[in-house]
Amino acid sequence: MDIVIIGFGGMGGYHAQNLAAYCKTNPAHPLRVAGVYDIDPARGRAAEQQGLRAYASAEEVFADKSVGAVLIATPNDFHLPYVQAAAAAGKNIICEKPITLTSAMAEQMYDAAEKAGVVFEVHQNRRWDDDFLTVRKIFDTEAVGAVYCIESRVMGGNGIPGDWRKKAAQGGGMMLDWGVHLIDQMLLMIPSPVRSLYCEYSYIYGEEVDDGFNLTVDFENGIKYRIVVATDCFRNLPRWQVYGTEGTATVADWDLSGGMTRVLVKKDASLRGIKAGNGFTRTMAPRADDSVQQLPLPVVHAEPWAFYKNFAAACAGEEPRTIRREEVVRVMRLMEAAARSAHENEVIKEKL
Ligand SMILES: NC(=O)c1ccc[n+]([C@@H]2O[C@H](COP(=O)([O-])OP(=O)(O)OC[C@H]3O[C@@H](n4cnc5c(N)ncnc54)[C@H](O)[C@@H]3O)[C@@H](O)[C@H]2O)c1
Repeated sequence: MDIVIIGFGGMGGYHAQNLAAYCKTNPAHPLRVAGVYDIDPARGRAAEQQGLRAYASAEEVFADKSVGAVLIATPNDFHLPYVQAAAAAGKNIICEKPITLTSAMAEQMYDAAEKAGVVFEVHQNRRWDDDFLTVRKIFDTEAVGAVYCIESRVMGGNGIPGDWRKKAAQGGGMMLDWGVHLIDQMLLMIPSPVRSLYCEYSYIYGEEVDDGFNLTVDFENGIKYRIVVATDCFRNLPRWQVYGTEGTATVADWDLSGGMTRVLVKKDASLRGIKAGNGFTRTMAPRADDSVQQLPLPVVHAEPWAFYKNFAAACAGEEPRTIRREEVVRVMRLMEAAARSAHENEVIKEKL
């Protein structure tokens, strides 16, 4: 199926390369990038240099009968109008995350796609991150006992990149940019409704949108989940920390470094105190080596090209879409609750 990328910037370019690699290994269901449309003519010329057709307008893409699908990778505020127009033209659609700016707009997009009978998939690609799949395995198999708290963080020191990500009207800010991934992962992993949440935004760089945030979610099943996104940090904390009744797991980074420590002796009678700082402590003394067991992470690798494979199979009517409407809308609703919490400095007690 011929696919045209609308918005040929950082992510559009990444998709063009990835789709070319996907096609080589999946000849049964190719998704051939036939062209691009970008509002910036320089990006169109860059596409032509890569052997791709540069369309003069989005309308020209939608009117082209040879185009089976479009991939929308523009700034977030253009996702809604392009998805509506693409659906009306009968094109199957991949739309970059976040789907759009609000849950109500997301519902409109799904309504448009369902009315037109086209496949509409949101690129929640971090469902297939190896670090997330590894943590999910630790959670599901109770590798450190029953999990009662998870910390999920992404930290960088580069501020908010580019221009449109700094503008509220364009759907900027780190909650929409990264929160959408980390909240999606959380809601996939924890099999429980949310009971309440509290969120703080950071505005270290003085932009009109959040440059990071700190979100604590309290689930009805008792699990606490903390998400931290920072763009002003030069010494990072681990990507994941998982606390269970029998131990603790750390996934330090996307490179899957880290490990698990399982407790063998819960109350160690031989525990000795240590001098720590200007004082003495038994509580915070290190565990004796024989009272704990060090284990490697149960690393999980994602199936290659799982997102594109599913989209292509869904377009062929062979599989349902993996990323469901109710999941995407639930993430949007949770982000809206988090924004209310941050703006009003209040715990939001809402079943989500
Ligand atoms: N899933 C992921 O891992 C991931 C990673 C990065 C970005 N994204 C998403 O991809 C989208 C694009 O982000 P980016 O980092 O590539 O941004 P970018 O600024 O690098 O690229 C955006 C491109 O869209 C073009 N554009 C702007 N308005 C347009 C319009 N009305 N019509 C056509 N083209 C238009 C710009 O000229 C630019 O080339 C965003 O929705 C972002 O959230 C997803």
